[in-house]
Amino acid sequence: MTATDPDIEKLRLDFPILAQEINGHRLAFLDSAASSQRPRSVIEAVSHYYEHDHANVHRGVHTLSHRATEAYEGAREKVRRFINASSSREIIFTRGTTDAINLLAASFGQSIEPGDEIIISHLEHHSNIVPWQMLCERNDATLKVIPINERGEIILDEYHQLLGPRTRLVAVSHVSNALGTVNPVEQIIAAAKERNIPVLIDGAQAVPHQAVDVTALNCDFYAFSGHKMFGPTGIGVFYAREEWLERLPPYQGGGDMILTVSFAGTTYNDLPYKFEAGTPNIAGAIGLGAAIDYLLDIGMDKIQAHETALLDYATREISTVDGIQLIGTAAQKAGVLSFNLDGIHPHDLGTVLDHQGIAIRTGHHCAMPVMEFFGIAGTARASLALYNCRQDIEQLIHGLQLAIGMFRS
Ligand SMILES: Cc1ncc(COP(=O)(O)O)c(C=O)c1O
Repeated sequence: MTATDPDIEKLRLDFPILAQEINGHRLAFLDSAASSQRPRSVIEAVSHYYEHDHANVHRGVHTLSHRATEAYEGAREKVRRFINASSSREIIFTRGTTDAINLLAASFGQSIEPGDEIIISHLEHHSNIVPWQMLCERNDATLKVIPINERGEIILDEYHQLLGPRTRLVAVSHVSNALGTVNPVEQIIAAAKERNIPVLIDGAQAVPHQAVDVTALNCDFYAFSGHKMFGPTGIGVFYAREEWLERLPPYQGGGDMILTVSFAGTTYNDLPYKFEAGTPNIAGAIGLGAAIDYLLDIGMDKIQAHETALLDYATREISTVDGIQLIGTAAQKAGVLSFNLDGIHPHDLGTVLDHQGIAIRTGHHCAMPVMEFFGIAGTARASLALYNCRQDIEQLIHGLQLAIGMFRS
């Protein structure tokens, strides 16, 4: 698959939503970092489940409950294989990345003591900042932030300085949603491991775009969202090493997470159910399983190669636009172009582009500290996924020229 490969045209047919026109123009969907689109196979897996197999999981003796349980647990096994976890006991279904990080903050957080330190980076999405800030406030702990440079890269030397005897957790993103920087997570994890410090990787922007192997990474925790990887909304994954999950207290109480309940006390269920209180998002998990099948059918390496080539092309093309400022120029980048155009507010730009059928994101991208670092209120962000092609980029560049004509004449 290359940027000009006709296979992309074929692949786009898998996504019914992309066939429509928006405001009389071909839809150029360049907002997959916010939420991606779904292939027909995912939509059909969810409706097939509702049409044929729906019942509650784990507790029924009847056929439909067995089918639902099999499909739900089958999806968990698909997730396990997808990220190469050792056991499906290590895969907890959540509502998404935010929910997974809050799970860890609430559970692991119970052991955080006054004076303890948690390290995050300056590049984080709010969902990997605020839960840690709240925890530090609650437990009188300190949040330490790894600084970034002008290219939007984590400064590793500074990170090494921050690691200390009171560091209890390092929590960083795999790929920045605001800038597309691919963080050196292997090095970040290795340095923490030398000191026996556990590491959480926020993989929301990594899993749709590259192969992820949690065993090879050697991280303790990894979080991601179904809706950014062509699956349904409201489903996500919290991966944690089994020994951690055995040790950590449950996050929420309720049905399914217990073995026995009496007023004298409660005993908790085995993994992974100890961390899945209440009726789960069964259809969401099944849809996520179908999304994984879809990604693996294409191949993560092919997807990454396609997106890297397209990002190179897009970066070259957009750099020729008069008055463009690219925000985030890291040496290692995934498919995100964050930019500003002289004299045009990002929101105005987004509106003009929408009239041309082009969907981008504008604003702070839930990463206000990143915007603060660059001294800006926000950016326009075009983000790529496996179904994007050169035509989308050409349409974007044409839209930018139109906006310049409107606002600068
Ligand atoms: C890097 C990163 N982390 C976390 C999140 C939060 O994901 P969700 O809203 O699906 O929980 C996002 C969403 O944009 C993200 O890009």
